[in-house]
Amino acid sequence: MKGVILAGGKATRLYPLTLSTNKHLLPVYDKPVIYYAIEKLVSAGVDKIMIVTSPDRIGAFVDLLGSGQNFISKTTGKQIQIVYGIQNTASGIADGLYIAKDYVGDDNCVLYLGDNIIEDDLTAEIQNFHDGAVVFLKPVKDPTRFGIATIDESDKVTEIVEKPTAPKSDLAVVGVYIYDHTVFTKMVGQPKSDRGEFEITYLNNKYIAEGKLRAARLEKEWFDIGTFDSLLEAGLFEKQKKDDSDKSK
Ligand code: G1P
Repeated sequence: MKGVILAGGKATRLYPLTLSTNKHLLPVYDKPVIYYAIEKLVSAGVDKIMIVTSPDRIGAFVDLLGSGQNFISKTTGKQIQIVYGIQNTASGIADGLYIAKDYVGDDNCVLYLGDNIIEDDLTAEIQNFHDGAVVFLKPVKDPTRFGIATIDESDKVTEIVEKPTAPKSDLAVVGVYIYDHTVFTKMVGQPKSDRGEFEITYLNNKYIAEGKLRAARLEKEWFDIGTFDSLLEAGLFEKQKKDDSDKSK
């Protein structure tokens, strides 16, 4: 299983914080945003990770993460391997994943949007994955901002709609996805969406059409770092967690 972390974008909603740096390098309490994604993957047994980012910021990621020497594999006890992919234009999540096509090869992959911080343990889903796709769902207050799952009577996902104007549920698709290698052939002929992006939702709907999409619910906290408020809330949450764990020692 390969990991692919997307860490590009201009994050204009966070200006001026992101005028001279990348959002994923900003601090959430005591660590940069991207550390949470890497640590989540490593704790789930993923030892080979490609970070996809923009050409103007890749140097800062290399300074921070190098070849992965600060992260230790659960299975080998040695450092994990981090490599880099360059996304020249921000053309959407599916476009970012496509950059990792040769890196993933015939392997399976976990695609992780580097600005998502999730509390749930992903080990079982990642280690038990065979084929098809897995998405993770979480109820949200503002469903028009996300990919939203439509659910039938038996709790099965029948469709995912990207940023619906009239949402049919409040179940957002979180920015972590597990795919088999057929995800790359599903991109052939993919059109851009109205917002000019190659949407990940298009690929998820392809898996639904094949009856190969599994949807798991997240039970714990989820942060999508994109605004000043979410950046602060995630920081306060992580501080509380650290304080609680210090107290219990
Ligand atoms: C993206 C996806 C969306 C998903 C969200 C999770 O949205 O397109 O389906 O629910 O990430 O963070 P974006 O960040 O591009 O607005």
